[in-house]
This record gives sequence, C-alpha cells and structure tokens, in this order.
Amino acid sequence: MAIRKVLRMGHPVLREVAKPVEQINDPALIALITDMFDTMAHLDGAGLAAPQIGVGLRVVIFGVKENTRYPDAEEVPMTVLINPIITPLSDEQEEDWEGCLSVPGLRGRVPRYKHIRYQGLDEQGNIIDRTVSDFHARVVQHECDHLDGILYPMRIRDFTSFGFSEELGINTPDD
Ligand code: NI
Repeated sequence: MAIRKVLRMGHPVLREVAKPVEQINDPALIALITDMFDTMAHLDGAGLAAPQIGVGLRVVIFGVKENTRYPDAEEVPMTVLINPIITPLSDEQEEDWEGCLSVPGLRGRVPRYKHIRYQGLDEQGNIIDRTVSDFHARVVQHECDHLDGILYPMRIRDFTSFGFSEELGINTPDD
C-alpha cells in the first residue's frame, strides 16, 4: 500500500498512550497494518508500532528473519499484535543493545525482562498467547512500550553506553 513517514523522538504523538482497537474486521485497520509492514520492510526494521506512523492505536508488528547482517539476532516470527498484554514471568532483567526507527542512528543498552508472556489478537481476531525469552521478549517489550508513550532512551540506566551506532561499532536492527 504505502511507505509512511516514521515520526522521530520529540514528536508529541510518540509520547501519548494509544487507544485500544475496538473492531478487528475493519478495512482501515487492515490498511494500517499493511502500511506498517511496508514501512518496516523499507527501513529494514525489526518492529514498528502504529504511533510511530502517527496512529494512536494499540497495534504493533515485529519479526526478524535470519539475517547475515545481524548474526546474533534470533529469529522472531512475523507477528501482528493488537491490544497486547505483557506479563513478566520473573523479576529477572537483562541489558542489551536497542535501536529504534524513531531514534535513527543511535543505540543504547536497555534493561528488559528476560522472560515474558504476551497476549493479544492478530488482524483476523485470532488469539496470540506466547511465552518467550531473551531477544524475542526484548522486541515485544520495546514495541509495546511505544503504545504507552515510552521510547527506549527513557529506560536507559547507564548513559555511558548511549551513542551513535557508527561510533559504537554496533550493527543491530532499528526496532
Ligand atoms: Ni522503536
């Protein structure tokens, strides 16, 4: 359908709490999700949340195929997640690098829960209910944060590792 402009950190829509989707079988919702996939693929991202293209609805997409550019990234299935709920399965957290299409060119080390359960609906109304760990869990937490107006720099504890990926020598997907 269309590649949309991704809003960057500082745009007020990125700080808003997005609204739940009330109707799944909606052509406008399907069009939104198609645009999100087109935009994410164009920018080679690992995930995208609707607010990043200016739509304040609780919709995220994510997915990482095996990619020689990111040999350390585990494969994450291509997923549409509507009205997501995340439940941490332990207090254990881990720090690792993150980037974001709304914060282009930068990377930082972000603490995230290591083990989570996430639930929601896909675009056809099917229930998604998965228990995941590590990188997959990180991607989901990053995307769902966008729905609550949180960008990853707001979660960084150690700013000595925050910087431009080219200077840091870090090559991971923006998500
Ligand atoms: Ni992001």
